[in-house]
Amino acid sequence: MVLYFSATGNTEYVARELAKYLNDDVMDLRERIREKDYTPIYSDRPFVICFPVYVCEPPRFLTAYLKKTDLRGNRDMYFVPTSGGYSGVCDFVAHCLSLKKKKRYMGSVGFIMPRNYIASNAYPELDKAEIERRIRRADDEIQRSADSIMSGKKLKSRHVWLWEILVTLPFNPIWYHLCQGVKDFYATDKCISCGKCRQLCPLKVIELNDGKPVWRGRSCAHCMSCIQNCPVCAIEYGNKTQKKNRYYFKKYSYVLSEKNTTVSEAAK
Ligand SMILES: Cc1cc2nc3c(=O)[nH]c(=O)nc-3n(C[C@H](O)[C@H](O)[C@H](O)COP(=O)(O)O)c2cc1C
Ligand code: SF4
Ligand code: SF4
Repeated sequence: MVLYFSATGNTEYVARELAKYLNDDVMDLRERIREKDYTPIYSDRPFVICFPVYVCEPPRFLTAYLKKTDLRGNRDMYFVPTSGGYSGVCDFVAHCLSLKKKKRYMGSVGFIMPRNYIASNAYPELDKAEIERRIRRADDEIQRSADSIMSGKKLKSRHVWLWEILVTLPFNPIWYHLCQGVKDFYATDKCISCGKCRQLCPLKVIELNDGKPVWRGRSCAHCMSCIQNCPVCAIEYGNKTQKKNRYYFKKYSYVLSEKNTTVSEAAK
């Protein structure tokens, strides 16, 4: 069974395409994570866990969720990180998770997809040609990876160096604590009170006040679901996002919502 979390569609695409080639079931974990639904998951086929890379690791809320959820049946676990180029210590964390779950670690295959993180100016926006190139490259790799999983082969994981583990594991929580937070999120007058941002937030950070979103608490993972999926591009993060396009990968195409588009154009 293919299990995935995806904030802006990259991982969803890879997960669903893999499941198609594997002729296996696929499960979106977003609602389970939101509702803290730890009901056991059964599969007689290997578990294939697909996720976006957050600060060189799998999302910590996903790892925590998987630790608490009993994965019954097959004892093999494969991992599929999607990243903007650097998957950091994901393979190490995945290996540890498999051991913790008393499963057999079957390796991982990473996909370099369009980077979705827009709440920082550190990363230049990708142009359309580069986005399409990355998607095409993923298409080629998906079938090869599915073939290996089908034949029960171990995937060749990226080697994780000790220094990466020593730097990343403490850095990740510091980054979240010091550099990020919810206080800079806000909705502009363009908001049409559709509630989509609230509904999508995997950590239930968003509440609606008179139909408009407010961000509360400290648990935001900066997953970019809310800001990238707003149908009218009404969400901003401080002064980092006003001029940036919004990216969301829908099945077999991606949506690049340019700022200042009208409601109907952006909501297509
Ligand atoms: C909070 C956050 C941190 C990220 N950190 C990394 C990273 O360390 N390395 C990297 O290559 N990409 C990083 N990215 C980019 C995403 O991993 C990448 O775009 C991924 O494919 C998004 O998947 P999704 O569309 O399924 O949510 C980060 C994205 C977010 C939102
Ligand atoms: S998704 Fe956008 S339009 Fe809908 S409630 Fe949230 S901010 Fe408003
Ligand atoms: S509030 Fe934070 S965790 Fe929730 S959808 Fe937005 S970025 Fe993701």
